Amino acid sequence: MSAVSIATAAYLVAALLFVLSLAGLSKHDTSRRGVAFGMTGMAIALGATIWLAVSGAWGDPAAMVGLAIMLGAVVVGAGIGLWRAKVVEMTGMPELIALLHSFVGLAAVLVGWNGHLHAGDISPELVDIHHAEVFIGVFIGGVTFTGSIVAYLKLSAKISSKPLMLPGKNILNLGAIALFIALTVWYVIDSSLILLIAVTIVSLLLGWHLVASIGGGDMPVVVSMLNSYSGWAAAAAGFLLSNDLLIVTGALVGSSGAYLSYIMCKAMNRSFISVIAGGFGIAAPAKNGEEEVGEHREIDAASAAEMLAGASSVVITPGYGMAVAQAQYPVAEITQKLRDRGVDVRFGIHPVAGRLPGHMNVLLAEAKVPYDVVLEMDEINDDLAETDVVLVIGANDTVNPAAAEDPGSPIAGMPVLRVWEAKNVIVFKRSMASGYAGVQNPLFFRENAQMLFGDAKDRVEDILRAL
Ligand code: TAP
Repeated sequence: MSAVSIATAAYLVAALLFVLSLAGLSKHDTSRRGVAFGMTGMAIALGATIWLAVSGAWGDPAAMVGLAIMLGAVVVGAGIGLWRAKVVEMTGMPELIALLHSFVGLAAVLVGWNGHLHAGDISPELVDIHHAEVFIGVFIGGVTFTGSIVAYLKLSAKISSKPLMLPGKNILNLGAIALFIALTVWYVIDSSLILLIAVTIVSLLLGWHLVASIGGGDMPVVVSMLNSYSGWAAAAAGFLLSNDLLIVTGALVGSSGAYLSYIMCKAMNRSFISVIAGGFGIAAPAKNGEEEVGEHREIDAASAAEMLAGASSVVITPGYGMAVAQAQYPVAEITQKLRDRGVDVRFGIHPVAGRLPGHMNVLLAEAKVPYDVVLEMDEINDDLAETDVVLVIGANDTVNPAAAEDPGSPIAGMPVLRVWEAKNVIVFKRSMASGYAGVQNPLFFRENAQMLFGDAKDRVEDILRAL
């Protein structure tokens, strides 16, 4: 059996494992198996690719040097990847993922450029298709590269999460796409370097502008959209490298990422087309969302404990601040303590609470909160009006009444947990600062709401002691 046939067979097995991995990841109880399938598939794919390279280079000193450099790069890359994965905090995951997407985009740009430089090796009847592949690969890669860098900067709060509202932003995006199509046709006719440089610049600027134009509240959709773009960038690179596995894997990541973006858009009441087109058709919000809305009231841990002790139903709505404070463990203890006293304690989880899909569910599962008391937003929203006390632990945008009640708000239309309908609301946070979307939260100034300031973990522990 030739090396190519062995590698092709291995690629087929790897592709199958990737499909099984996606299927496993779609459900809570099979997700570990899904991850194991994915890791095994990737190990097989890497092994087969290295095997193919080794058998092709064997006996040719120049090719062996190239191979040694490639293997060295794999070892260094794997080392850095392992180290980053080990040290990354759960709260830092989204920005790490955004950064990794940018590498896929950059790789597709470099593969495209390499394709341009080696166009002479392509047989004349295929060269037009090759040129189109180069151009499309560079374009998708460039958009993914800068788009992911902006997403990384926004998610890590290195730049503001507010949307950039350039005048005529829709015209700019449409113009860039029209220019890309015109340049592609031109490049297929006359493959000059200057056209490749032009499309690289256009794609880098478009990627930057697309993601910069999207506001903080829509960032979850952007992350999954970039996931999808990175898949298509990998598929484009697969066409150029004639690597079937890269095409299949890229298409799997591209389509599943697109579907995830679609589901998220539905959950967030956003238009899918508008978000993937950089906020296409969304007018600037009527307000900047930072306006003060009155006086807030404070409560201390002892009074909060007293209120909880007298309650018969309690709902906890956690958010990003619970993850930052690592407050899930004392939260789980309070839950247990109150349940032991006969209080009905449940959790309400917003689909984009925290910074990555399922963030709160993972933290609560880690702290061994029983699954059956952890409910989705739609399952709990109608019960909130009958609830004695809602504990808002480090959540902000996901419980903001402005989204439901103020059409001029930057987050208008986003479904939220209607915690303000409860009899009493206690908000755990450190200050009056706004949430991720940078929008003031009128909940804090409502009659039935009281602020419990400080680190969420410290305050929950204070209540535990007082109970
Ligand atoms: P956020 O709106 O981000 O608000 C979190 C709040 O936690 C802040 O207002 C902060 O106030 C407080 N906080 C931070 N550290 C704390 C600590 N140690 N102790 C107590 N409080 C602390 O949270 P959310 O309601 O979970 O909303 C998530 C936001 O992130 C949404 O806008 C969503 O669109 C966006 N986003 C989500 C995702 C995914 S996929 N989930 C991805 C990207 C972006 P203080 O500073 O005053 O303490």
